[in-house]
Amino acid sequence: MDATHLGDVVVRRARESESDALVGIDAVAVEGDAHRRASIGKWCRDGLVLVAEGESGLLGYCVVEYTFFEQGFVTMLMVASAARGRGVGRRLLDAVAASCTSPKLFTSTNVSNQPMQRLLRRAGWSPVGLLHGLDEGDPEVFYLCDR
Ligand SMILES: CC(C)(COP(=O)(O)OP(=O)(O)OC[C@H]1O[C@@H](n2cnc3c(N)ncnc32)[C@H](O)[C@@H]1OP(=O)(O)O)[C@@H](O)C(=O)NCCC(=O)NCCS
Repeated sequence: MDATHLGDVVVRRARESESDALVGIDAVAVEGDAHRRASIGKWCRDGLVLVAEGESGLLGYCVVEYTFFEQGFVTMLMVASAARGRGVGRRLLDAVAASCTSPKLFTSTNVSNQPMQRLLRRAGWSPVGLLHGLDEGDPEVFYLCDR
């Protein structure tokens, strides 16, 4: 997909009725993970989800919550497998940064998740700490958005 086509991608808030469609583009939920499916339903009901939508339908989504020391925290960023590597993740992160209502915006990901960390650094986020003990042998790196 070229940059022109990417211009057709719209980022907007998800409707509650789109919960099933989001399950369909979530690589974990679509495999049958009941917890992820339930989380998607709750995030949609609570109005926490931004979606990226193209001509073919939903391409990705992200979730921002404000329960982390009352600062914004990107709980989830997911791009449909077939839509990766086209700037959709970047688009969602930039939309989140622009709409964040708290002074600071954080996220975290596993050390092993190199695609997510490359994306965060390119989008202007900085690593601010490492947390051991969540996933055995794969610590969580926290990032802060420089905005
Ligand atoms: C991590 C993730 C969100 C990235 O989303 P994405 O839409 O692929 O991200 P982008 O397209 O913005 O960037 C990915 C790559 O595509 C490249 N790219 C972006 N736009 C491009 C374009 N128009 N043409 C060619 N390449 C492009 C970027 O340079 C980047 O390359 P790099 O990885 O070599 O640095 C996605 O891989 C994903 O959903 N993973 C599973 C869930 C996950 O791990 N989420 C994070 C933890 S919650």
